[in-house]
Amino acid sequence: MAATTDNPLREGMRLERSAEPCTVIIFGASGDLTKRKLVPALYHLTQDRLLPAEFAVVGGARRETSDDDFRSQMKTSVAEFGGDGKVDEEVWESYAKGLYYVSGEFGDPETYRKLSEKLALVEAERGTLGNRVFYLSTAPSAFAEIVHKLGEAGLVDESKGPWRRVIIEKPIGNSLEGAIELNTSVSEVLAEKQIYRIDHYLGKETVQNLLAFRFANGIFEPLWNRNYIDNVQITNAEAVGVEGRGSYYEGTGVVRDMIQNHVFQVLSIVAMEPPINLSPDAVRDEKIKVMEAVTPITADMVNQVAVRGQYGPGHVGGKAVPGYREETGVAPDSPTETFAALKLTFDNWRWGGVPFYIRSSKRAARRVTEIAITFKDVPQKLFGDSGGSMVEPNVLIVRVQPNEGITLRFNAKVPGQVTNIRGVNMDFRYGSSFGARLAEAYERLLLDCILGDSTLYARRDMTERGWEIVTPVLARWAEELPGDMFPNYEAGSWGPKASDDLLARDGRTWRRL
Ligand code: BG6
Repeated sequence: MAATTDNPLREGMRLERSAEPCTVIIFGASGDLTKRKLVPALYHLTQDRLLPAEFAVVGGARRETSDDDFRSQMKTSVAEFGGDGKVDEEVWESYAKGLYYVSGEFGDPETYRKLSEKLALVEAERGTLGNRVFYLSTAPSAFAEIVHKLGEAGLVDESKGPWRRVIIEKPIGNSLEGAIELNTSVSEVLAEKQIYRIDHYLGKETVQNLLAFRFANGIFEPLWNRNYIDNVQITNAEAVGVEGRGSYYEGTGVVRDMIQNHVFQVLSIVAMEPPINLSPDAVRDEKIKVMEAVTPITADMVNQVAVRGQYGPGHVGGKAVPGYREETGVAPDSPTETFAALKLTFDNWRWGGVPFYIRSSKRAARRVTEIAITFKDVPQKLFGDSGGSMVEPNVLIVRVQPNEGITLRFNAKVPGQVTNIRGVNMDFRYGSSFGARLAEAYERLLLDCILGDSTLYARRDMTERGWEIVTPVLARWAEELPGDMFPNYEAGSWGPKASDDLLARDGRTWRRL
């Protein structure tokens, strides 16, 4: 393996377990995810010397392409999406030697025969010992069929020794029934320990750091409960619209696309009990346990605790942008929500009575994902709120992205002869504390799968629980179509008025972003 790493965080980094020889097979290799994320992530892992020398990648898609053409297309992708626009020739050369391509239709048994042959060749050439990761980056409707065809071709059989794992991209189904059906179908072929349901939010450094922040520090955990916390707000706002994915998004909406998976994963880490250790099941047991405690939303509660929105035309970053209904692939009277806010509570001892407000949107004023934990007010306002004083409740803000970091907001005396109080920030920023590029979520997740560590992957029960929580909301919304109520927020704003009303009913406001 060539070259030194340019990432100071990785210098001298030792994995507790080293990655075993293996081949990563990507279904959907001509797609966006492969170009933008997967191939650059594997390149960075090569550069950081975290992969073994006996390593290969086999891309598979319908289009006919030679190994060499695939290599040069992927080199362009790494240059374009790999971060700094540069490709280290030495690293590239050693990486590219292990890149192969096989063409075929996913539904055609012949494809799997060709893939078997190719794998036999690649595995011999690269010495990968038959260990395989299959990455399904295709349309979700093809997942079950691909897994069954892999099974029929004997490609995922572990009985002879080498391990075989399958990574499935979200969405896991489009409804609770769909998720159960998909999970059941893949479990006919694969054991749960072979299935890796990827949720890229779990690969984000800041989300992983939540665990460290909560459980590697003694000072926060005693406060992390209903006695000290007034409310928790999780905001996931994107400045982008649907980016040419209108026809996918029409059948999806923000609840299915973001809340049911990414936001709930983050929520579960904020709210979970300490795990007994960091093994995949110990962590995932606690996550599912707390999600089981989410107070069920019944049909008659929906309008009290859930808000939906859809953006109309507006301005984002100084540029005029069209409304959702004007996007390509979107119906002119589309009922699809591009904004949703929910108020959730937990029926457990830690969180009884503490509202968790979550919101996610497309075409917000800017991109920001953060968790804001607002603590209860002081019991006596010694300093009052008069004159120049503005005593605020303490807030702990975890900035997931961008400007990754953590801020604690507390009150301080403004210097001077009079006692005026103002809120100030105590800041931790990844950039200044560690001074290095944060690894992309896919780098961590791909490496974890190769290492056989599923801690940061979604277990079956969690994917189905996410659907259970949102199903009554989606059902009610489908019954009561929004019609002229949409669009109800301007592109470039923080969402519809109803979202502010949701908090105002509780005497609260969203944190100003
Ligand atoms: C994807 C969604 O899972 O996550 C997209 O399908 C969304 O609609 C994306 O834009 C957001 O990811 P990130 O990492 O940019 O916050």
